[in-house]
Amino acid sequence: MLQKLEELIVEFRSAIGEVDKKASLFDLKAEYLGKKGKLNLILKSLKDAAPEDRKELGIRSNNYKIEIQDSIDKKLAQLEIDEINEKLEKNWQDITLRDSVRDLGMNSAGYHPVTIIQREIEDIFLSMGFDILDGPHIEDEFHNFEALNIPATHPARDMQDTFWFKDMEHLLRTHTSTIQVRGMEAHKPPFKFVGPGKVFRSEALDASHEAVFHQLEGMMVGENISVSNLIFFMKTLLSEIFKKDVNVRLRPGFFPFVEPGFELDIECLICGGKGCSVCKQTGWVELLPCGMTHPNVLKAGGVDTDKYNGFAFGLGLDRLVMMRYGIDDIRHLHSGNLAFASQFKAY
Ligand code: PHE
Repeated sequence: MLQKLEELIVEFRSAIGEVDKKASLFDLKAEYLGKKGKLNLILKSLKDAAPEDRKELGIRSNNYKIEIQDSIDKKLAQLEIDEINEKLEKNWQDITLRDSVRDLGMNSAGYHPVTIIQREIEDIFLSMGFDILDGPHIEDEFHNFEALNIPATHPARDMQDTFWFKDMEHLLRTHTSTIQVRGMEAHKPPFKFVGPGKVFRSEALDASHEAVFHQLEGMMVGENISVSNLIFFMKTLLSEIFKKDVNVRLRPGFFPFVEPGFELDIECLICGGKGCSVCKQTGWVELLPCGMTHPNVLKAGGVDTDKYNGFAFGLGLDRLVMMRYGIDDIRHLHSGNLAFASQFKAY
């Protein structure tokens, strides 16, 4: 019987060495440790052994049982690790590898035309000593309306169809004039800055209206600022951007935050002034609303109106892009179409 036991353990040790799958390991376990397994068969015949050998046989078979169980546990752990490593090997990815197929939108494709124009205009104003400011897309009533001399009851609130949040206190800014307020809050006069960014209006979409578009706000506050200062900066801006003479006209415009207020229009460059869907058949495109900052606005921004005054303007970047590149529908700009967006080069 002792010999049978020794044979069994030798056989087991070599058998487990061969196992390379979990399923065969479980079979092996049943074969040796199962109720009808090899070890139990031997133990059953223990009663037939000579009484003086029984103790020794008992101890050995118990030790072997422990050894078998132990080797099976270890083998199982090893097989599980092998399995994981195999999966890792198969699904291996080199995360440092450059994706040569997908276009990242900034190398071969170039920049979006709105980005191109925005950066150019920033450079023009930087060269004239302006700062560049930013402001949040989600605003409160104060920064979008109140501080800009548009009280809750003012009809001008209807001019700007607003996306309100559920709390009815926050909104997606309807214009970048919010940056005027934030700029005044953060700076002591004299100062001058521009603030570009996205704005949001709940509008019916057509060739010249989008719900999301871009403006570039400008503000200058100092002593004795006049309309001629305003006109100088606007003219410089337009001649730098178009690099040619464009026909402009200045007409009175109403905005509660400026007084007097103006609309600076340029002759439509899509149709050459003949009339098309972009200029709504008028031959002119509203591009640059502007004016002298209303004293109420300066006061709300904490500016001393006895000493300082200023001007502000709000340039429509998408229309400017359309005029410069001859794009006849604003909806192209947000189409997400790379073939469209990749055609533009800086001037
Ligand atoms: N905020 C105005 C608009 O979105 C534009 C504007 C800016 C007008 C600054 C005057 C001065 O329509």
